Amino acid sequence: MKADYLVIGSGIAGLTFSVKIAEKFPKKNIIIVTKASEEESNTKYAQGGVAIVLNHEKDSFKKHVDDTLVAGDGLCNKAVVEMVVNEGPNRLKELLEWGANFDEDATGNLDLGKEGGHSEFRIVHHKDITGFEIETALLKRVHQLENVTLLPHHFAIDLITNHHLKHPKPSQKKCYGAYVLNQKSGEIFTIRGNSTLLASGGIGRVYGHTTNPVIATGDGIAMAYRAKVKISDMEFVQFHPTALYDVRGDQSSFLISEAVRGFGAYLRNKEGHRFMLDYDERAELASRDIVSQSIDNELKKTGETHVFLDCSHLNIEKFKAHFPNIYQKCLDNHINIETDWIPVVPASHYLCGGINVDLDGKTSMKNLFACGECTKTGLHGANRLASNSLLEAMVFAHNIFKYHCEHHLETLNVEIPDWDDKGTTIAKEHIIIQHNLKQLQAIMRDYVGIVRSNDRLNGARKRLNLIYDDVEPFYKKSKITTSLCELRNMLNVAHLIVNQSLERKENKGGYFNIDNV
Ligand code: FAD
Ligand code: SIN
Repeated sequence: MKADYLVIGSGIAGLTFSVKIAEKFPKKNIIIVTKASEEESNTKYAQGGVAIVLNHEKDSFKKHVDDTLVAGDGLCNKAVVEMVVNEGPNRLKELLEWGANFDEDATGNLDLGKEGGHSEFRIVHHKDITGFEIETALLKRVHQLENVTLLPHHFAIDLITNHHLKHPKPSQKKCYGAYVLNQKSGEIFTIRGNSTLLASGGIGRVYGHTTNPVIATGDGIAMAYRAKVKISDMEFVQFHPTALYDVRGDQSSFLISEAVRGFGAYLRNKEGHRFMLDYDERAELASRDIVSQSIDNELKKTGETHVFLDCSHLNIEKFKAHFPNIYQKCLDNHINIETDWIPVVPASHYLCGGINVDLDGKTSMKNLFACGECTKTGLHGANRLASNSLLEAMVFAHNIFKYHCEHHLETLNVEIPDWDDKGTTIAKEHIIIQHNLKQLQAIMRDYVGIVRSNDRLNGARKRLNLIYDDVEPFYKKSKITTSLCELRNMLNVAHLIVNQSLERKENKGGYFNIDNV
């Protein structure tokens, strides 16, 4: 297949870019490949909302910029932060035009919530299912556009670069598209892209215990890594402080939004002590790195498995109106928040680093762009401020769109060889995949968690190498499957997290190594 624009991923980043470019250039064709059903993405599960300065009487762009810089602990790029914050209202206007709805207050203005690290109320939301509302609106718009082809259940395996070309080999390294697996038929085919956008989301599944859905296996970052594209800040994995505690421990975990703490909920230990007051004067509304590290410390001190979120003092009718999904999920788990405290524990949630991009979303490889959670833009620094991620994806999707409006799109006319699977056979032993995946997730949870040490990181590296020695020969001789590719990708991502952790000699934001103290 041939695309003017090949987009990998159908979350907020991929869809926003696709809508904008398709509207502007009705004669160009856009192909979106996405590995699960079309709506499945981290975006779909976003709860709290989008941080945007709207109330200029109390709030200001400067305050949002300052909050972002403080959360990022000195490692944000200030110019990027200012650009993203200032663009917020424009991107919100567009979302509203595309049909997304956000809650209003009694005066008819958009209702603004608050989350950790924010000095003002500025989170625009649709109850506690903001991501679902945005994803639905974007998909609806995409389906109205005739020049967009959306291919669900299509898995991008690898980027096509000079490395794959036989003859001639252009001197400048470029991206020519991707090899893609049709997950239903098993066929692997080539999609040429004059411009390719990686919008493939996060890495949460690398840690078994995560708020992320099963699609979040870091595929785009791993593909970019194999293509030698620049990647950084992988050590800054953000752990969300309040995932619903589940005795199974290594599963996807339901999120209890930070907006619940913004609404007034308290964190308590088993004795009922409001321990966050001992750690930070902002208590429950300290930034996410501080709350997660404090809970980790509290659990190590007490030997408990979880702490609690106490909502029993809150106005329950208002709570139900703002957080109906969370209220119901708690009830389904036999937790009545009027009387019961919610058991919570930190879980891997977001990656602050990723594929390096500039203000136009350009990566270090020509014709390859990246957007959303798979990128490192300079906005988040060492720790992302809550609800800055959806905003970042929309703003950078717009910048990439603008870049394409202002620059001629090169037509790539090279001969691309078909995917070569000579000598491979259908694997008979799937246990190799399942077993190594469990091992990988256990290593990352136990050795590369909220608090790290050089010994544990070196131990993780050795153990990951053993898994690599098992998986790589298996990959080379087996017919491609999604789970095999995902495992290989997660291994690449785990290596990047461990290696870049060992390179960081100073604790910052979400990165804490006891040997750096
Ligand atoms: P995603 O939305 O994850 O989309 C990635 C897409 O790429 C998916 O369609 C996936 O299937 C596809 N894909 C991946 N690999 C491949 C492949 N190999 N081939 C083909 N397709 C592929 N942020 C906020 O700002 N506010 C919030 O309130 C908020 N709440 C959150 C709550 C939860 C539970 C979670 C998990 C995250 C939350 N976040 C929030 C973070 C935010 O949702 C994500 O960072 C953001 O949605 C990422 O968007 P994206 O488009 O980059 O990636
Ligand atoms: C939440 O609702 O707590 C998630 C917000 C975010 O990750 O930005």
